[in-house]
Amino acid sequence: MSNVAVVGTQWGDEGKGKIVDWLSERADVVVRFQGGHNAGHTLVIDGEVYKLSLLPSGIVRKGKTSIIGNGVVIDPWALVDEMERLREQGVDLSAENLKIAENAALILPLHGAVDRAREAAASGETKIGTTGRGIGPAYEDKVGRRAIRVCDLACEDTLRERVAALLIHHNAILRGLGQPEVDQDDLVEKLLEIAPKLLPHVDVVWQRLEEARKTDKRVLFEGAQGAMLDVDHGTYPFVTSSNTMAGQAACGSGIGPGQVGFVLGITKAYTTRVGSGPFPTELDDEIGQRLGERGREFGTVTGRQRRCGYFDAVLVRQSCKLGGVSGIALTKLDVLDGLDELKICVGYRIDGEVYDHLPALAKSQAKVEPVYETLQGWSESTYGARSWADLPATAIKYIRRIEELIEAPVALLSTSPERDDTILVQDPFHPQK
Ligand code: IMP
Repeated sequence: MSNVAVVGTQWGDEGKGKIVDWLSERADVVVRFQGGHNAGHTLVIDGEVYKLSLLPSGIVRKGKTSIIGNGVVIDPWALVDEMERLREQGVDLSAENLKIAENAALILPLHGAVDRAREAAASGETKIGTTGRGIGPAYEDKVGRRAIRVCDLACEDTLRERVAALLIHHNAILRGLGQPEVDQDDLVEKLLEIAPKLLPHVDVVWQRLEEARKTDKRVLFEGAQGAMLDVDHGTYPFVTSSNTMAGQAACGSGIGPGQVGFVLGITKAYTTRVGSGPFPTELDDEIGQRLGERGREFGTVTGRQRRCGYFDAVLVRQSCKLGGVSGIALTKLDVLDGLDELKICVGYRIDGEVYDHLPALAKSQAKVEPVYETLQGWSESTYGARSWADLPATAIKYIRRIEELIEAPVALLSTSPERDDTILVQDPFHPQK
């Protein structure tokens, strides 16, 4: 078994897209296991630009099977739009190469409306800064056992019953808010209209993964968001509504925990966050601005400017421990080129006491003052480096210090958005070699 799970170790946007694409070339099966179309990345292959949100990255490569697992929440309209866009770009999408779990929950238009209405109603400090895609409300319905699932699309009677039950809940809330109610027949008609576009892809995904296991196929699990956005372990309540850790790759696709394989934690050489919530190493100064500009830190899905700050080793160590990270892929080192000195956060001071971890209480998280260690920067360019010999000694020192502090090795170093500008230390698909 040589499977790999790719997960973010910060607040998402660590540069997973390039690494996932790089690994997907060597995988047979690529699986999404959580999140929805709140995720997004851009792939550039042979000069062609592909924008992906819900579809696994393997979809743009011939001969790969792409799977949307049961842990994903699927907006059927967003998925069909994405599929059609890719077809127009010449990507072959068939029942063979794209499989959707029959037991995945759907995101409905009402979920997006609830998400956006709640955000609009929230005042400054309580705003989560969601992507407005209906992710939270859809997961709420899933754990509330009210969700409409992919399999329901194949059975009109069931669909009508399930929609009726769902609307008893939602229309009561809408009435309470003085909002217009959702019409049952209208929603059912919309779902029946879109169903034929999805149903050919619907499959018993866990069986396909079992076949992959038996035939020694390489499976790549593609995580979305990052560890600190995990609904259990992240900076709650400023999190997304799914588990973003590698453990979720098992439950969110239907395999055993032993099948997840090498856990590759994608880690940016500094820190960014989009949306609200605590961010101990955030920089409001010109260094923060410089990181944002050099790193082109704008959200792929919403276009929002990302908040930027120094590398937070306390946070990444916590993510690595929580998520069982085997090794990290360090990205965007070149963004730090030209800074005289660099700071790494090595501890948190809260009310005068030093912590080696981020406590769960939101009030404590908001009070964190970072304890920094200062390292010398480098003036040379690391952009596009393809071997350690191409890196200045101070950059190597920075990387080695990160490894020490987070207690996890660097398996890959990415030095530009180009796929070949990657230094491989340990092949995640062949960890022993
Ligand atoms: P939601 O997932 O739309 O509910 O948003 C919840 C929080 O997660 C917000 O702070 C979003 O900015 C953040 N978030 C969701 N998806 C991503 C992502 O793909 N990258 C970075 N942040 C994300």
